[in-house]
Amino acid sequence: MKTVALIYGGESGEHDVSCVSAAYLEETITAAGYTTIPIYISRKGEWHRQPRVAKIASDNRHNPSSLLQKDGRVVLRSAEEEVGIDFAFPIVHGTAGEDGALQGFFEVLGLPYAGSGVATSAVCMDKALMRALFAVNKIPQVEYFVIADAESAESEKIHARIESSIGYPVFIKPCNMGSSVGVHKVSGREALAKAIADAARFDDHLLCEQGLPVRELEIAIAGNFPDYLISGVGEIKVNHEFYSYEAKYIDPNGADLFLEAPIEPALREEIQRLAKGAYAAVRGDGFARIDFFLHKETGKLFLNEINTLPGFTPISMFPQLFKAAGVDGPAITRKIIEWGKARCDRLKRLRAASRA
Ligand SMILES: Nc1ncnc2c1ncn2[C@@H]1O[C@H](COP(=O)(O)OP(=O)(O)O)[C@@H](O)[C@H]1O
Ligand SMILES: [Mg+2]
Repeated sequence: MKTVALIYGGESGEHDVSCVSAAYLEETITAAGYTTIPIYISRKGEWHRQPRVAKIASDNRHNPSSLLQKDGRVVLRSAEEEVGIDFAFPIVHGTAGEDGALQGFFEVLGLPYAGSGVATSAVCMDKALMRALFAVNKIPQVEYFVIADAESAESEKIHARIESSIGYPVFIKPCNMGSSVGVHKVSGREALAKAIADAARFDDHLLCEQGLPVRELEIAIAGNFPDYLISGVGEIKVNHEFYSYEAKYIDPNGADLFLEAPIEPALREEIQRLAKGAYAAVRGDGFARIDFFLHKETGKLFLNEINTLPGFTPISMFPQLFKAAGVDGPAITRKIIEWGKARCDRLKRLRAASRA
């Protein structure tokens, strides 16, 4: 196995972050001994074979190309050339990248790939489905309810439901989004209708969740089900009302990252145990970042979400947490590729057995 297609960019709001992640992954994949073939997906969904990853999105527009099957193998074809691909490393966040769609395309091609499979990716991208699986597995989470058919939802009815259950403040979130896009903290009835209308621009299913005073703790996990490597626990100290899109990507002082959260060892172990259990519950493979909330007053711990394609820039939590645990960027990248290959081999064996 030699050539790794590094697929980045994409149609989501995290397009630019993906380009920066890809520039770092290009280094680590090459350092791990593979030939890296960068493939940029434009905001419109066109694929371009790049000579190198360019960190600026607009510089990534060479050589339109497509992946296809030919003579029993997968090739990347463009007007200029045809190159064999042995493995795909997708680092496309959000819609049509992190939600199982791209993973399904690789499955159809029979191409091994990095990270979680179709079902895990899809479930973890949809907050309502992910929360339902957490509930079945008794994983602690903040109280919430789902608003279906958000566009026609009546805010008065939702207000009544909030009053009689979780109370204000609430967080309104589109189920199928990320990067805090469309996420609103609502403190009372007046702001509710506007928040619902905005969140409904992104999805017809919304989560309405109890807003709590929380510390935000994150952990990195990697490996194939059910044998996972786990990092220490990091903390994000947010300097805004909450960890909004602006705090994440626009304001350089929006948040401070700490690779070692100042918490008791027993709590760290509890977070590691819960993270492994939750990742197994969604049958995670490959790699992920798992985010927790710790209630500032009661000390109660809640699992917030599993990110199946976390940021992979040199300053992102995922690579940094593993580096702090003694597994540097090229080493974790090499393992992720090996796990992806092993997972694909296992699935091929199972499929062959089912045909026999
Ligand atoms: N229930 C909650 N209580 C307090 N803060 C919350 C709650 N839900 C979300 N937040 C804040 O909003 C941010 C984004 O929410 P999150 O569910 O992680 O969405 P995304 O998938 O877009 O990252 C969190 O990092 C946190 O700062
Ligand atoms: Mg989040």
